[in-house]
Amino acid sequence: GSNKMWGGRFAQGPDAIMEAINASIGYDRRMAPQDIEGSRAHAAMLAAQGIVTDTDAEAMREGLLTVLSEIEGGTFAFSTALEDIHMNVEARLTEIMGPAAGRLHTARSRNDQVALDFRMWVRDQCDAAIDALPRLIGALVAQAEAGADWVMPGFTHLQTAQPVTWGHHMLAYAEMFARDLSRFTDARRRMNECPLGAAALAGTSFPIDRDMTAAALGFDRPSANSLDAVSDRDFALEFLSSASLCAMHLSRLAEELVIWSSAQFRFVRLSDRWTTGSSIMPQKKNPDAAELLRAKIGRIFGAQTALLMVMKGLPLAYSKDMQEDKEQVFDAADSLMLALAAMTGMVADMTAEKDNLEAAASSGFSTATDLADWLVRELDLPFREAHHVTGTLVRMAEEAGVDLPDLTLDQMKSVHDGITEDVFGVLGVHNSVASRTSYGGTAPDNVRAQVARWKELLA
Ligand code: ARG
Repeated sequence: GSNKMWGGRFAQGPDAIMEAINASIGYDRRMAPQDIEGSRAHAAMLAAQGIVTDTDAEAMREGLLTVLSEIEGGTFAFSTALEDIHMNVEARLTEIMGPAAGRLHTARSRNDQVALDFRMWVRDQCDAAIDALPRLIGALVAQAEAGADWVMPGFTHLQTAQPVTWGHHMLAYAEMFARDLSRFTDARRRMNECPLGAAALAGTSFPIDRDMTAAALGFDRPSANSLDAVSDRDFALEFLSSASLCAMHLSRLAEELVIWSSAQFRFVRLSDRWTTGSSIMPQKKNPDAAELLRAKIGRIFGAQTALLMVMKGLPLAYSKDMQEDKEQVFDAADSLMLALAAMTGMVADMTAEKDNLEAAASSGFSTATDLADWLVRELDLPFREAHHVTGTLVRMAEEAGVDLPDLTLDQMKSVHDGITEDVFGVLGVHNSVASRTSYGGTAPDNVRAQVARWKELLA
């Protein structure tokens, strides 16, 4: 038979393939709580405005709660023929309360309904990210506090560059995740306008109260243009952009954990809770969580690209293309939340191998810059000349198979005779990091001050 919702216009039902390509109920059932909350607010508003009777609105609001409990209890029979969550809910409401359920859709379309449901769903995901990120930052700050003065190599080009502190490295990620947090907060604020009442695209002739529904559903205001309200998916794209940046940061940290936990680096030990063994190689402890996290991030980038592609060619207002907005966003949000939780667990449970970090920091001529700086400061050499002298000393050390602090004073003097015994003071890695006291620098005292700032922010 033809569809109950628009049967008046149709003599024949859809082809089975049409039904398959058209249905979204397989995934948009995830928006059932938002759909029902939106409908309950709409029913209350219709009654308050005298558009439906209080008796009908009460029956709708009660019936919708019954539908919600059936869905949550797993007893609801979803129907593909009813396409999506909106029509599945309405059809069941009709069974529960009779034909007056048909009055719920007065002054409303599925176009503003789906825009509302999806917006509320994405808003919840922003809240979930806003809730999860401080926990990850807190885990990083705890690591930073424990290792404010542990020395490790800082890299550029993955080549040893200068010694830095473990705490400083951890807090670099705290900065990134805090920016992510502020992006989710911004996105949430911008998306918090209510599309309900835009109806199909033009608004409605019924005397609705959009401020009432907007307020009831936690929005700051109703959206100002009905065409925009049903066409806009910026909110989902902003969520995905914020998620992508956050995911990129997670992936970089995951990559570092993979490298650092290798036998060649041994900078960190990941706990048993976040690693797996091998079925053949008994010695293995693999960083699977970090690897999977690094890989899952691609789904989030993919979702952003996919939704941009869906939207870019659409004339105003609603097109069915927009039904393809949800599945990818759901998947991206799931991947992000899982990645955030896994990273928080890994960071909280990992152990920095303090001695290995320091040994690595002390190799690779990591204090060459300190030596050059000393030549500038103590002997008043121009930096370019100091760089040259230091480079010559590095080559000398390399040829002798030793590191910079192992050169004798005589060897040093053979390159520049102004060099004195004092130079050895700056060649140690602890002195090196302690001297980096410029604002934002790696010195342990700076790290401790930043840890205090983060703790205050998180409190
Ligand atoms: N399931 C649809 C979607 O997700 C709901 C809106 C349908 N609107 C329409 N005009 N066919 O976009």
